[in-house]
Amino acid sequence: MATRRPVFLEARDRGLRIVHRADVEPALVCQAIERHRENAAHGTRRCEAYGPGSSVSRVRVAARGGALDLAVKWNHWRGLRGVISDALRGSRAVRAHVGAEHLHAIGMLHPETLAIAERRRLGLVIESFLLTRFLEGTQPLPAVLPEIRRVPRERRELAHAIGELVGRLHAAGFDHTDLKHSNLLVTPDRRLVLIDLDALARRQRPSWRRRVRALGQLEAFASDLYPWLPRTDRARFLHGYLQHEPGLAERRRPLVRAVRAWVERRLARWARQDRRYHIQYPLAPRAAAPEAEAAGPAEPSERQGAA
Ligand SMILES: Nc1ncnc2c1ncn2[C@@H]1O[C@H](COP(=O)(O)OP(=O)(O)OP(=O)(O)O)[C@@H](O)[C@H]1O
Ligand SMILES: [Mg+2]
Repeated sequence: MATRRPVFLEARDRGLRIVHRADVEPALVCQAIERHRENAAHGTRRCEAYGPGSSVSRVRVAARGGALDLAVKWNHWRGLRGVISDALRGSRAVRAHVGAEHLHAIGMLHPETLAIAERRRLGLVIESFLLTRFLEGTQPLPAVLPEIRRVPRERRELAHAIGELVGRLHAAGFDHTDLKHSNLLVTPDRRLVLIDLDALARRQRPSWRRRVRALGQLEAFASDLYPWLPRTDRARFLHGYLQHEPGLAERRRPLVRAVRAWVERRLARWARQDRRYHIQYPLAPRAAAPEAEAAGPAEPSERQGAA
């Protein structure tokens, strides 16, 4: 959660183009990437998230100014479609870095970028990496919701805060095209941090269709994974959203109807898909101890400790 803009430098090391903060040496970036590759080889057992397109793990490396506690995200090779997308829009790591700058500009919480790295072949991105400071004490939304299931006040406040976050984003002219539950981290004092910022797109005013999609994404996860959430929580969510978009208040009913229709279509599609990667929350490091490792991932108790 950066406050001042740090200086970034560019370097090359082990076939990677590295853009790093002046105080994070390229050799450390390479070391952290290697650690993450080892973690990723163990899949969900050592990763915060592990899917076909990307993986994230917590890595600690010793640096001159003290240990660096990192979330390393590897954007894997995603075939020709990924190559084309990266060629047109920049690698996912670069886009995430730009997204963080946008959020900084509008005063929204985000993980602090420490470095990005790309491997290219014939000018095309083969894989990219994003190194952010690990947000100690935060938990992804899917880990928090079951904890507060029986605490209505907390649930309603959180629902309202999520609605507000999305409303604020839209009002500022941004759209997050992958608003899924695991892309929201909750701090110990219940503030929200938006992540996966390669999905942040600048839109003058998000269109009706985009608004429906954004609200629908969150609602689809809620309907699918937390069917016990009461309507009142949804009402709080919408209230939070409309607070930043008061012009939409009179279209509240058509908005709710359109979102519901979108969600029905999404749920029907999910019913035909393998959703292994969407429902494994919390993933291994927060749920079970990873194998002990010298200078490797931290113990789960440390991960959950208050910031
Ligand atoms: N800076 C960070 N600090 C703490 N945890 C983080 C950080 N970055 C990522 N994580 C953890 O890793 C998870 C996945 O991160 P991210 O969404 O960037 O990757 P992903 O591959 O897109 O995963 P998913 O497909 O689940 O969204 C988050 O839900 C969170 O638990
Ligand atoms: Mg994500």
